Amino acid sequence: MRAIEIEGLRKAFGDDEVLRGIDLAVEAGEVVCVIGPSGSGKSTLLRCVNLLEVPTGGTIRVDGDEITDPDADLDALRRRIGMVFQQFNLFPHLTALENVMVAQVKVLRRPRAEAERIARENLDRVGLADRADAFPTRLSGGQQQRVAIARALAMGPSVMLFDEPTSALDPELVGDVLGVMRGLAEDGMTMLVVTHEMSFAREVADRVVFLDGGVVVEDGPAARVIAEPEKPRTREFLARVLDPAAAAPPKRGKE
Ligand SMILES: Nc1ncnc2c1ncn2[C@@H]1O[C@H](COP(=O)(O)OP(=O)(O)O)[C@@H](O)[C@H]1O
Ligand SMILES: [Mg+2]
Repeated sequence: MRAIEIEGLRKAFGDDEVLRGIDLAVEAGEVVCVIGPSGSGKSTLLRCVNLLEVPTGGTIRVDGDEITDPDADLDALRRRIGMVFQQFNLFPHLTALENVMVAQVKVLRRPRAEAERIARENLDRVGLADRADAFPTRLSGGQQQRVAIARALAMGPSVMLFDEPTSALDPELVGDVLGVMRGLAEDGMTMLVVTHEMSFAREVADRVVFLDGGVVVEDGPAARVIAEPEKPRTREFLARVLDPAAAAPPKRGKE
């Protein structure tokens, strides 16, 4: 079954149409990486799938249910969709364990003992079983992001969305977070991931989608899109991402 099915998705902010008719499908268990220049609409796309933004046109289905239907039960739908942002947004006054418990108790109304058990399972899954009692300030950025992943997983989502999850991390901390994401992919989690970590995309993603100017320019098998992009815009973008030093130098004035 299609886990996510996006058809003709449009999103405008005032006169500024940021998504201009996106068609994108993610099968259950598939990992799809979305790449594209800054401002191309990647975050807006993910935020529409999670209904943090209301689309101005088109439809989105998650597990066959249309989330863009005005009568849809948004709370129930959001629970099926876990989201991890660039900024981890942990509660600073709560421990790692409590951060992973709070929405389970407040939103899902799980009994505390059950929420704690599920929180510990998910902290273990992201390699932080021994840091359950640490406050966020005592955790590295990579550890905080792994707590944020555990927090999303604890809600039992059928789909996980990641918006540049490693972009705010020091380089030496990126690998642990990507390792956790790779583990989720191996466990069969359906994932839509905005990232510029091209080795992750090459090794873990089933497909890579290149977004530019609010449209899907290219969508294909990850290895093929990365090694042999068909469209010149994809080629130019990948050349810059894969080897920033080789990019064309800035144009000089003639004075
Ligand atoms: N809430 C908003 N209000 C107005 N414009 C927005 C809003 N969110 C995003 N945009 C605009 O939409 C465009 C795409 O943004 P975004 O989806 O964040 O791109 P990306 O994640 O690819 O960098 C940008 O021009 C941005 O300024
Ligand atoms: Mg973004």
